[in-house]
Amino acid sequence: MKPSILVARAIFPEVLAQLREVFEVDYNETDGIFTPAELTRRLQGKVGALTTGSERIDAALLQANPQLKIVANMAVGFNNFDVHAMTAAGVQATNTPDVLTETTADFGFALLMATARRVTESEHYLRAGLWTKWRYDMFAGAEVHGSTIGIIGMGRIGQGIARRAAHGFGMNVIYHNRSRLSAELEAECKARYVSKDELLKTADHVMLVVPYSAESHHTIGAAELAQMKPTATLVNIARGGIVDDAALAKALAVGQIAAAGIDVFEGEPSVQPDLLKVPNVVLTPHIASSTIKTRKAMAQLAADNLIACLIQGKALTPVNTLPRQAL
Ligand code: GLV
Repeated sequence: MKPSILVARAIFPEVLAQLREVFEVDYNETDGIFTPAELTRRLQGKVGALTTGSERIDAALLQANPQLKIVANMAVGFNNFDVHAMTAAGVQATNTPDVLTETTADFGFALLMATARRVTESEHYLRAGLWTKWRYDMFAGAEVHGSTIGIIGMGRIGQGIARRAAHGFGMNVIYHNRSRLSAELEAECKARYVSKDELLKTADHVMLVVPYSAESHHTIGAAELAQMKPTATLVNIARGGIVDDAALAKALAVGQIAAAGIDVFEGEPSVQPDLLKVPNVVLTPHIASSTIKTRKAMAQLAADNLIACLIQGKALTPVNTLPRQAL
């Protein structure tokens, strides 16, 4: 008999077909988001699950599903997992690193450009039929090339942004991270390590690429926004909760910073209502990794993790280490 798994959200049909060759698949075809109780129930009898950031895997769910062996997240971030509880329950957790690095870095840059150069704000103006004449300062934004970018979180995606900034746009790159990069990587990214305070005070553009944790919650709040230059832009492609969205909306409304580009939100898909009222923010619905090629690669890697773990006995990109006998 084939092992049973749950595919908790809609995925590419070709990836689903591969999973069906190997597993008995319970597929959430309608793509509705399960409540915690529904997810717990749908996992009954399943040894594996393919999830996205919308499925929370916690101790209560694990306790109700002691047969579960692996949960493969189709995302590089895994803050929807209680990894500690998963490890204690002997459940393998996997994510999808590497396959989305460059695509996500591209989008960070797209959002930076759109924010600094006021792309969506000016498009709304044009679409509203308000454009009647050219004007010398019309939608004058902030310079990107040659300016200083401050990157908070210098993992693989942060480094991808640093390379684009330094080599493509001649930007001065400063960064802050829990640990410093090696001298080789710093040289390759042309990036200089600084304190968070120095970064906030000196960057023309602040880019957030730090994983979400209790420690990184509200990395940018009212106090940090007050440290930034009034001409600065802020871009968040990291996770909702890294920025205090209510404080950001206030800072944007009073011109404490010039503009922001936000792809991830506290409590998404809900968006802090005050953010919707300010014109100087570019808002996108968590799409930084969303190209067809990359989303297919992410789905494929999540599926491959299920196959590698449940059929071959060893996950490809684990985020926790289990004692050998647990699998
Ligand atoms: C997307 O947000 C991811 O973590 O891959």
